[in-house]
Amino acid sequence: MAEEDRSKDVLPTSEVYHPGIGSYQQVYRESLESPEDFWSKQAGILDWHKRWDKVLDDSNPPFYRWFVNGKLNASYNALDRHLLHGRRNKAAYIWIAENGDEKIVTYDGLYRRVNNFARALIDLGMKKGDRVIIYLPMILEAPVAMLAAARLGIVFSFVFAGFGAGALAERINDSGAKMVITADGAFRNGKVVELKKIVDEALESTSTVTTVVVVKRTGTDVQMDEERDIWWHDVMKDSSTYVEPEWMDSNDPLYILYTSGTTGKPKGAVHGNGGYSVWVANTLRWAFDPREDDRWWCAADIGWVTGHSYIVFAPLFLGLTSIMYEGSITYPAPDRLWEIIDRYRVNLLYTSPTAIRTLMRFGEKYPKMHDLSSLRVLGTVGEPINPAAWKWYYEHIGHSNCPIIDTYWQTETGGFMIAPPLALGLPPLKPGSATFPMPGVDPVILDEHGKELKAEEKGYIAYRRPWPGMFLTLNNDPERFKKVYFEKYPGKYFCGDYAIRDSDGYYWLLGRADEVLNVAGHRLGTIEVEDALISSKEVAESAVFGKPDPVKGEVIVAFVVLKEQYQDEPDIVAKLRKRIREDLGPIYVPEEIHIVKTLPKTRSGKIMRRVVKAVALNQLPGDISTLENSASVDEVKAAIEIFSKETRKK
Ligand code: WTA
Repeated sequence: MAEEDRSKDVLPTSEVYHPGIGSYQQVYRESLESPEDFWSKQAGILDWHKRWDKVLDDSNPPFYRWFVNGKLNASYNALDRHLLHGRRNKAAYIWIAENGDEKIVTYDGLYRRVNNFARALIDLGMKKGDRVIIYLPMILEAPVAMLAAARLGIVFSFVFAGFGAGALAERINDSGAKMVITADGAFRNGKVVELKKIVDEALESTSTVTTVVVVKRTGTDVQMDEERDIWWHDVMKDSSTYVEPEWMDSNDPLYILYTSGTTGKPKGAVHGNGGYSVWVANTLRWAFDPREDDRWWCAADIGWVTGHSYIVFAPLFLGLTSIMYEGSITYPAPDRLWEIIDRYRVNLLYTSPTAIRTLMRFGEKYPKMHDLSSLRVLGTVGEPINPAAWKWYYEHIGHSNCPIIDTYWQTETGGFMIAPPLALGLPPLKPGSATFPMPGVDPVILDEHGKELKAEEKGYIAYRRPWPGMFLTLNNDPERFKKVYFEKYPGKYFCGDYAIRDSDGYYWLLGRADEVLNVAGHRLGTIEVEDALISSKEVAESAVFGKPDPVKGEVIVAFVVLKEQYQDEPDIVAKLRKRIREDLGPIYVPEEIHIVKTLPKTRSGKIMRRVVKAVALNQLPGDISTLENSASVDEVKAAIEIFSKETRKK
């Protein structure tokens, strides 16, 4: 969202919800003034096997450790304890297939499946501390696998099923996984994506995996390697087994989730058991105020952090009933989301601005086809929401009765950082602002040199103190952890986003301040795409950047210089697209690929991506005093002109 898009509207939320901001301010103040007492109380949202000795150990910054020496188990907190407290027969998930089939699994049913799969993991030789990759679509086996791993202290790393073989192999290698859990295929927009085939290809460039467990979902033909591959249904033999949970140290790792940074190598954010669990459960409660009987629908993919925290851990810790939907929100028709809300009487909906903008384009006709009166709260995540989309969501979906909970956070933060605190007292909402920090979150807006900025000044958002959901480190790379997040502003966590705090104290998140893209709410690295292009035999050089897009927020644009001998290669653009799709995954495929003879460079030979972007977007290129080959700029301009003419013709 551009700064000038900030809305001047203020919505008096007393119309939609009341407690008033006063109680929030009191809770917030308490969280900063007496953090020990505050977090001791909040940690009671979980059952602990052994109480912690100390709430926060900050003696070795930035490696902050929460609930020191406390012991607990995430799967116990998600399942076992609910069986003792009246939720045995309550639905944990109402799962809806892309073709409309439905499966309801109760807390007891989920508990039995998780124990069954945990037993299978033991039988397959997996033990505490081992690493497992989960590469599954939106099917119930995904939370089962995650919880079974968590039960045993096996560190899982979920790889979004839309990633390609190269991205998968990289994550397997970095995590050192012994096992991959996947499916024969995934249904997407009525088609089958052959996941097992992608796994087979990825495993050609890895060496640690000894077992692949395969869920049969699509019935697609797969090659099973007798030594290595085994069917899920063949290992789920003992549905009445009980596996004692491993009592994990609060700071033992729970999972690793890879996310894009400013280099070609994704960062493996490691989340722990104690602080993370306390954080996700409390933030969901504070921001959305879910009730026992509600139906909660987080419409993200389980492979991203939103799915980890708010499809799996937080709602299960709170004993809620979640909707889990397998397919695309526009398949088979653009009313899919609304139809599910109507049919299942969904109360709380949590989705992305891109989804809202996509559905908005189809018009009000589609939501009007359905009764959406069950909705009480609407949420968004993943990217700035522009006021127009906010208002459409508020009026046409919430019928001006549902507050919009715009949650700002990151993979690294584990859960919401800035979001309207519905359960604590909601402030009047301003369309496009994520409002106020969650309890315990202490943000500050700084300039390049670390000077604190005044209200209404745009700067970088940083946090002055740790919070329980903060990741522990980067897998295999504690130095990068320190450098990326704590070097720019010593003693503070720097997260790479621009923000403004307005004169009423509201936070407005204004997008990434680095080379990271946000495409349809997905965080992607420009350098990853450049690396994939350069590793194609035809490509000599490339420059990749994001271009603003009215629906997806940003789309990827690539400029490519071909090697001499491939100058006349036929269908080169299609070939490069295919290559990126297979290597990184479909979400990485550039919207535009332009072939040019040279790219703007500095005298030392560094490609000036910033200049390519500015010229291509018709903006001022900034300082070009170090530019070596000014003719390249004309070429970039010419390529864009030809492209615009051709697009107009179409
Ligand atoms: C962006 C997704 C504005 C931001 C949970 C952040 C947002 C990155 C919002 C993290 C929001 C996320 N308003 N921007 N409500 N939510 N972002 O790690 O740039 O996939 O740094 O986590 O998304 O993306 P990630």
